[in-house]
Amino acid sequence: MSTAVELNDSHEHDDELNYIRSARGRRAIGVAREQEHKPRLTRVADQAHSNFKAAEAFNIAPTGFNPTFKGKRFEEEWLRQSLGSFYDDSLISDVLSQVKGGKEANVYCCLAYPGLGPRWLAAKIFRPRMFRNLKNDAAYREGGELIGRDGKAMRKKREQTAVAQRTRIGLAMLHQSWLSNEHGTLTRLHAAGALTPKPWGVNGNTILMDFLGEQAMPAPALNHVDLDPAEGRRLFEQMVSQLRLMLKADVVHGDLSAFNILYWQGEIRIIDFPQAVNPWRNPNAFRFFTRDVTRVIDYFSGYGVNANPEGLARALWREAYGAEAGERLGE
Ligand SMILES: Nc1ncnc2c1ncn2[C@@H]1O[C@H](COP(=O)(O)OP(=O)(O)O)[C@@H](O)[C@H]1O
Ligand SMILES: [Mg+2]
Repeated sequence: MSTAVELNDSHEHDDELNYIRSARGRRAIGVAREQEHKPRLTRVADQAHSNFKAAEAFNIAPTGFNPTFKGKRFEEEWLRQSLGSFYDDSLISDVLSQVKGGKEANVYCCLAYPGLGPRWLAAKIFRPRMFRNLKNDAAYREGGELIGRDGKAMRKKREQTAVAQRTRIGLAMLHQSWLSNEHGTLTRLHAAGALTPKPWGVNGNTILMDFLGEQAMPAPALNHVDLDPAEGRRLFEQMVSQLRLMLKADVVHGDLSAFNILYWQGEIRIIDFPQAVNPWRNPNAFRFFTRDVTRVIDYFSGYGVNANPEGLARALWREAYGAEAGERLGE
């Protein structure tokens, strides 16, 4: 079947396909490339453009990156665009399989570059659909900042307004901000010794990090694991230490649950940080923290753990900040 036929043959990837083919999608991909390879802007932008115009061009790898895993329609080109910079930087040498396709991100198992250390790396590629999928972000952003590609806050009124009004540029900034927030948080927590995957790289679309598990068997999330009660209690204690450590590093996860704790051979790793908030800035932080603590306790109550979520949240908060929950930090 020729690629041209595939272009007109739409099935489950309709959303991506429509997005990629739209002017907005082309621009967004152009911007992502621009940010990654500034000096090559014109050539890359032209190339991306002609990719979309001429289906034949899909067989030409712009960087020589030709992953083994091809995926479904258009995924191959999307993978090359999203992961090419990591190939160029000698972080990965191949893409082997898809681990998970979520609403907001796809996670792939990559072969790490020989000699790098780990055998595999996980690439979390934020999906274009996420541009349209951030309806409830206001509480997370409250008092917080949009974070730019350089990891610094974007404070300009113009930028804030663009996001509030959901303009094309505003949505692209939001996408960038969530991705930068996840990467920045992972970096900070990993350096602080938290049980998170180590981040290895980031670009406008993707975070590259330690892969948990093995290629043939990615680590399951805690909610898919049967622990024996003693191990359940041990891991609960470990999670309490992690909550304490994260709070001392000024991080409230904001979407913590058994779904975002991976388990592998007796060890846990906490993942999925785009919505993480800083308690010094976000007035809703204690509310998010209490919800995180509650969900962790809910899960472990299945293993005989009996703790008061609000009480534990308050105690950890007091310990980290010397302040009662509800008091404004820094005042
Ligand atoms: N570092 C990793 N190693 C192995 N699998 C991972 C890793 N990160 C994510 N995954 C898998 O991908 C899924 C989705 O990742 P996550 O960061 O939770 O994104 P989201 O829930 O927003 O789609 C996880 O539940 C897990 O199965
Ligand atoms: Mg998740």
